[in-house]
Amino acid sequence: MHIEGSVALVTGANRGLGKAYADALLAAGAKKIYAGARQPPGAADSRVIPLKLDVTLSADIEAARQRCGDVNILINNAGIMLKTTMLSEPSAESMRREMNVNVFGTLAMIQAFAPILAKNGGGAIANMLSVVSWFTYPFNATYCASKHAALAVTDAARIQLKAQGTQVLAVYAGFIDTDMASELADGDEPKTPPRQVAERTLQGIREGVHHVRADKRSEETWDSVRKDPEGLEKSMQQAWDNRQQ
Ligand SMILES: NC(=O)c1ccc[n+]([C@@H]2O[C@H](COP(=O)([O-])OP(=O)(O)OC[C@H]3O[C@@H](n4cnc5c(N)ncnc54)[C@H](OP(=O)(O)O)[C@@H]3O)[C@@H](O)[C@H]2O)c1
Repeated sequence: MHIEGSVALVTGANRGLGKAYADALLAAGAKKIYAGARQPPGAADSRVIPLKLDVTLSADIEAARQRCGDVNILINNAGIMLKTTMLSEPSAESMRREMNVNVFGTLAMIQAFAPILAKNGGGAIANMLSVVSWFTYPFNATYCASKHAALAVTDAARIQLKAQGTQVLAVYAGFIDTDMASELADGDEPKTPPRQVAERTLQGIREGVHHVRADKRSEETWDSVRKDPEGLEKSMQQAWDNRQQ
């Protein structure tokens, strides 16, 4: 589908990757962008409509559904990462919070907006996943669990929404240069510019693809998961063992 003339809703659009999505949509000629945020800032461009939207609050989602009936692109970008190992004391609580935003928030947005997308010709949903949708990094394992689950939500939504002509994209990336990655990545880890992730996603929407590997790390990990899953598992064990010494 075309980005030019589209009406998009981006969750978590106030900073980080969500802001890059809004900027890339503007640059690509979107007609209107609903910029969802828990505390929406003012907008510099008249095509950007600030929208109060916490994806864990059903009242916010219902208000967005009623207000944004012209949307034909939904970008589920909002996410949290609490940097919790799987067996540490707060892991269940961390996982609940991450699941609430990354999985149930995404699911609730899809459920609310699927009928709107159908009415507007099918459109597209892009869900922001991660390379850790495919393997588990032990230092943020509860987040990995949420991104695995978000991949299942994405795949299932694609199957169910095909009949109404909605394209459902899974977008994968390694470290992206935002606040989230600065909490986890070592200083010398390469980080992908958010603009690149946003632009590759928009290209994926134009081309009608289902999976967007938005950076080099995701391309390499996609190959490793398929060609050498045991090697990947060993490298995670090694990373864990090294930190215990
Ligand atoms: N950074 C990475 O390395 C990386 C890699 C792969 C995938 N991702 C994914 O990319 C997406 C964007 O992450 P980012 O790197 O831009 O992270 P970020 O800089 O931490 O920004 C997260 C965004 O999500 C919003 N958010 C959090 N909880 C929300 C809620 N309940 N309702 C609505 N919005 C909420 C935040 O809003 P507030 O300002 O109100 O907190 C913020 O706008 C996430 O889904 C993340 O998992 C990130």
